[in-house]
Amino acid sequence: MEYRRLGRSGLRVSEFSYGSWVTFAKQVDVQPAKDMLTAAYDAGINFFDNAEGYEQGKSELVMGQAIQELGWSRDSYIVSSKVFWGGSKPTQRGLSAKHVTEACHAALKRLRVDHLDLYFCHRPDIDTPVEETVRAMHTLIVQGKILYWGTSEWSGQRITEAHAVAARCGLTPPTMEQPQYNLFERTKVEADYAPVYESFGLGTTIWSPLASGVLTGKYNDGVPQDSRMNLKGYEWLRDEWAKPEGVARLAKVRALADLADEVGMPINHLALLWCLSNPNVSTVILGASRVSQLTDNLAALDHKAKMTPEVLDKIEAVMGNKPEAAKRF
Ligand SMILES: NC(=O)c1ccc[n+]([C@@H]2O[C@H](COP(=O)([O-])OP(=O)(O)OC[C@H]3O[C@@H](n4cnc5c(N)ncnc54)[C@H](OP(=O)(O)O)[C@@H]3O)[C@@H](O)[C@H]2O)c1
Repeated sequence: MEYRRLGRSGLRVSEFSYGSWVTFAKQVDVQPAKDMLTAAYDAGINFFDNAEGYEQGKSELVMGQAIQELGWSRDSYIVSSKVFWGGSKPTQRGLSAKHVTEACHAALKRLRVDHLDLYFCHRPDIDTPVEETVRAMHTLIVQGKILYWGTSEWSGQRITEAHAVAARCGLTPPTMEQPQYNLFERTKVEADYAPVYESFGLGTTIWSPLASGVLTGKYNDGVPQDSRMNLKGYEWLRDEWAKPEGVARLAKVRALADLADEVGMPINHLALLWCLSNPNVSTVILGASRVSQLTDNLAALDHKAKMTPEVLDKIEAVMGNKPEAAKRF
């Protein structure tokens, strides 16, 4: 495992990390969670991602209990939470100073830690002034309750605004962003944020590197019984991939699988290593519902040397979706 700086911060995060969305408290309880966390930690993963919105906080409860029972030294791992979707009442969601503060306190309890290493605004909140959120995050940092704050799926413009507010008011600016990034979703990471990396040294902890598992090829011949797309509550995901655009993307997955074969690795390895080939990616957050998936995905690191510029060009030729603006940077 290699470690990358989280943007311009001094924090060194493992190039692969592990997140609990969908899985913890929905597909798995504490013991399998412990098994997966152990497999990840023993392989050198040091960042574990969570959010108040994952299974209404239950995902954090599972992770908190699991890590406590595993007895890891607190200084050996990085844990995150995200604020935005805390409940249905107006004060339980969004990025007001009240919710940002109370959600942090609740996440600390659920995760059984004294501080969160990373704390993300899970989405932009157009009803809250950016200054209010920046000030609330800064206050939590001063209080020692969080170490770094960041955003998730904000536009480059809004991140720039947060930096401007922080500079003007003497507050702590965001360190990192958590965007979706995979062979199908490239615009934010490759085009929109290009000026932000340059100006502010933004770090990125990217999500859904396998497009919810599609880039393993497991959906090429339909939806397997024991897969995310077959879970109750995830019909929306299944519907997305049943649309004409989804069907066209599945054809690309088949073409990528042929290319991966030619290069000498499985398609999931190709897809994960492609994410890592972008130097603006600080860490690729893996998802896994069982240990064998994690072990399989971690084995991608053995094939790093095969990701030559020629292979990257061939991937580009198959995908044909490089964002226009990215070509300028
Ligand atoms: N900030 C945000 O808005 C946001 C949004 C989404 C995710 N995230 C973070 O990013 C993390 C990763 O996202 P993700 O779970 O969508 O990642 P992903 O890698 O795109 O999908 C992971 C899922 O694909 C399937 N899978 C993975 N490896 C496999 C393998 N080798 N063979 C077969 N199936 C495999 C598993 O699902 P099944 O076994 O159930 O099919 C697994 O749970 C999340 O846990 C979360 O921490 C953040």
